[in-house]
Amino acid sequence: MYQINDNYQKLPGSYLFSDIAKKVKAFSDANPDAKIIRLGIGDVTQPLVPAIIDALHGAVDEMAKAETFHGYAPDLGYEFLRNAIAENDYKARGCDIAADEIFVSDGAKSDSGNIQEIFSLDNRIAVCDPVYPVYVDSNVMAGRCGTYDAASQMWSNVIYMPCTRENNFVPEFPKETPDMIYLCLPNNPTGTTITKAQLQEWVDYANKVGAVIIYDGAYEAYISEDDVAHSIYECEGAKTCAIELKSFSKNAGFTGVRLGYTVVPKELKCGNVSLHDMWARRHGTKFNGAPYIVQRAGEAVYSAAGKAQLKDQVGYYMKNAKTIKEGLKDAGYEVYGGVNAPYIWLKTPEKMTSWDFFDYLLEKANVVGTPGCGFGPSGEGYFRLTAFGSYENTVAALERIKAL
Ligand code: MLT
Repeated sequence: MYQINDNYQKLPGSYLFSDIAKKVKAFSDANPDAKIIRLGIGDVTQPLVPAIIDALHGAVDEMAKAETFHGYAPDLGYEFLRNAIAENDYKARGCDIAADEIFVSDGAKSDSGNIQEIFSLDNRIAVCDPVYPVYVDSNVMAGRCGTYDAASQMWSNVIYMPCTRENNFVPEFPKETPDMIYLCLPNNPTGTTITKAQLQEWVDYANKVGAVIIYDGAYEAYISEDDVAHSIYECEGAKTCAIELKSFSKNAGFTGVRLGYTVVPKELKCGNVSLHDMWARRHGTKFNGAPYIVQRAGEAVYSAAGKAQLKDQVGYYMKNAKTIKEGLKDAGYEVYGGVNAPYIWLKTPEKMTSWDFFDYLLEKANVVGTPGCGFGPSGEGYFRLTAFGSYENTVAALERIKAL
């Protein structure tokens, strides 16, 4: 008889956002008249901007003619997109990242789940707590996390770095030495971040202890403060210790279009083994390239019109963030985030767990958010609201919350 990957059996329940979707569906079936406002999953609501739509139309027309038709995309991405990324996301910020160090993919979720494959199962991971659940779950599936303790909601072989109001949501160097450090900055779910100087300390630490940093910069477009780095490669020495994951979902509305990229610098080596070569081998074997049409849409993100239109779109969502933050404060909540990220992180009322508050908000205000404990044990007692709704819905949700 064949055997399965037992590690999957260790995972508690289903993926966080699938759990929430099930609960909301059950509530909506039981209350068909309820006008539910969804501020749970960080999914965008505004349409693709005109510059991107034009690029999509143009690329679709190219696919209709034999002379301009495109089949398989190059494994690592089309040069036109990799050059645009290198120029705009790196060179323009003084980061020395070349186009051939960029691997185009179908999104940061896949890359953040897959990147662990090129590392030994003996490695110990460290994660901020709370954080995007994919990092831990994908390492559990691989068999790197040990056993789960339901009482503490912790894995025996994961190093948790609590980020709570007590430490101003800044991760501290762990007592035990990790091999792989996941940093999501600005952070999902807390919406908080650290300064460039603090990030430099993490880079220095990783280089010193021989750890690799997996840096998820999916929310970089929302950074509004000057002392925050837009890429880890702004820090000295990052090319010898860090892999950076980027997404087009949040800055350009590609959640349903799917595009992202990963940077693996050529200088990143374990002994004399190049991680760049390993990821290229993995990518070439398991991935057949993001669609041509989508990569042309990605290129349009960096056009003058695309940049201007997306700046406005980010501004739209950040206006929502402000509305949520101020509305919650008016209603007496303790709130964090929402300045460098489209997430607002609030402390649940005394004696209410994260899931209690989820039920309360759904039942009494018909508003969906995300329970903090779904992102890690230190998220218990907190709750996340996203700024990715429409402005009208955001205002309406806050009115309902204030009225409670
Ligand atoms: C979230 O809500 O945390 C994100 O939308 C999840 C994701 O980006 O996959």
